[in-house]
Amino acid sequence: MSEPLLIDMSKQGRKAYCFPPLDLPRGFDQALPSLPASLSRQTAARLPEVAELDVVRHFTRLSNLVHGVDNGMYPLGSCTMKYNPKLAEHIAGMSEFTQIHPLQDISTVQGSLSVMYNLLEDLSSITGMSWGTLQPCAGAHGEYTGLKMIRSYFLKQGDDARKKVLIPVSAHGTNPASAAVNGFDVVPIASDERGLVDLEDLASKLDDTVAALMLTNPNTLGLFEQDILVISRMVHDAGALLYYDGANLNAILGMATPGDMGFDVLHLNLHKTFSTPHGGGGPGSGPVMVNSTLRPFLPKPDIELTDSGYVYQWENEESIGKVSMFWGNFLVLLRAYVYILRMGSEGLRAASRHAVLNANYLAAKLAPVLRIPYGKRCMHEFVISCSDLLEKYGVSAQDIAKALIDEGYHPPTMYFPSLVSEALMIEPTESESVESLDAFAETLLKLVKRAQEDPASLKAAPITTVVGRLDEVKAVKEPNLRY
Ligand SMILES: Cc1ncc(COP(=O)(O)O)c(C=O)c1O
Repeated sequence: MSEPLLIDMSKQGRKAYCFPPLDLPRGFDQALPSLPASLSRQTAARLPEVAELDVVRHFTRLSNLVHGVDNGMYPLGSCTMKYNPKLAEHIAGMSEFTQIHPLQDISTVQGSLSVMYNLLEDLSSITGMSWGTLQPCAGAHGEYTGLKMIRSYFLKQGDDARKKVLIPVSAHGTNPASAAVNGFDVVPIASDERGLVDLEDLASKLDDTVAALMLTNPNTLGLFEQDILVISRMVHDAGALLYYDGANLNAILGMATPGDMGFDVLHLNLHKTFSTPHGGGGPGSGPVMVNSTLRPFLPKPDIELTDSGYVYQWENEESIGKVSMFWGNFLVLLRAYVYILRMGSEGLRAASRHAVLNANYLAAKLAPVLRIPYGKRCMHEFVISCSDLLEKYGVSAQDIAKALIDEGYHPPTMYFPSLVSEALMIEPTESESVESLDAFAETLLKLVKRAQEDPASLKAAPITTVVGRLDEVKAVKEPNLRY
């Protein structure tokens, strides 16, 4: 059943509040300067008049309509929808952290500055980089920041010919977008038959007009770029830099570092790997970490530890400047720090090992029935192709994804990466037990059987949701956002 808006539940005179009696003299407001008539409201605002219980029930019902990691598996590939421990949430809700202001005297926020400083130290050792910035508020924002630093690095050397950024065709869509926003020309790099960077294609495109190669490892097919050291040498020999899209770090925590792989700069998605839920449009954080080559170009201010405590360092001439208001999304940084402390280095390594084990376990269960075009072994995620189902029974990847909703699962990522036709990208994460992986595999295999026996029933899915299958093309072409 659909949930009415609060305004539709409104009953004149009903209230969710009760003010104490006025204790100021009547007419006190006449002494205040009056607003210009053009800005003054002529009629009362149309606000919902509802009781507190109406509001509580309304939002509770809405929350029951949403699927989250807390009520079921969420295998949305490339999004790392893992369980986020409640401890981090609890600490991020403490008034010591929520009731401070970025402009208050620095002597009163030393504790919060120590969180940011220590987090930067931890992220430097986790990634094998020299230092970083916590300002960017999303992965894409981190990409923008990192590429801007690359641009400044070359301009400082008087090299304005390096206008190209090379990006594999399997890359996340934000990569080419961030390069374009920074004024770079995007040049796609092909994948070879293994689903990895095509080294010949890369060699043919590397020259003195290239500023950087942007790469995620493991890539979006869930495969480790095993030629990474060769790639790194090729890129550096051509005088270009290597950018790491660290959104997939959940697969390699404590086992490999982008620094050792030869990357010069990277962004992380704290809202995937480090204890803040990804998706849903909530606040995120995309710290950028750099090696010593790019360190002078980091956004400012930096945080420094001196004998008299933590101070802001604004002196850096070569910095690209500020990329965020104040210090970014502080509470997301805090959650990440709590998570890292709570897990410890062994815990982080174990999380990645389990993420990889879970993905391989699930892939092995599905492989006899569903085609996995690239790689027998995967890292933290894998991509299946439903093209056989489409050819034989007319059932698409989208039909399977929608039917999964009726079975109590969030759908996997659909039609990405574009290298795989009728793609479903599955990332179980480390959070799921063997029982829940088995149940998910059984459900998918049951849907394949249904595709063979009753394909029409899958076309109707989902049938258990408030709204059924939406016309996505119409929604994009004719967006109607009014109620
Ligand atoms: C590989 C990859 N790169 C970049 C991003 C962009 O991150 P954000 O959505 O925070 O901008 C994502 C998002 O999931 C991603 O999976």
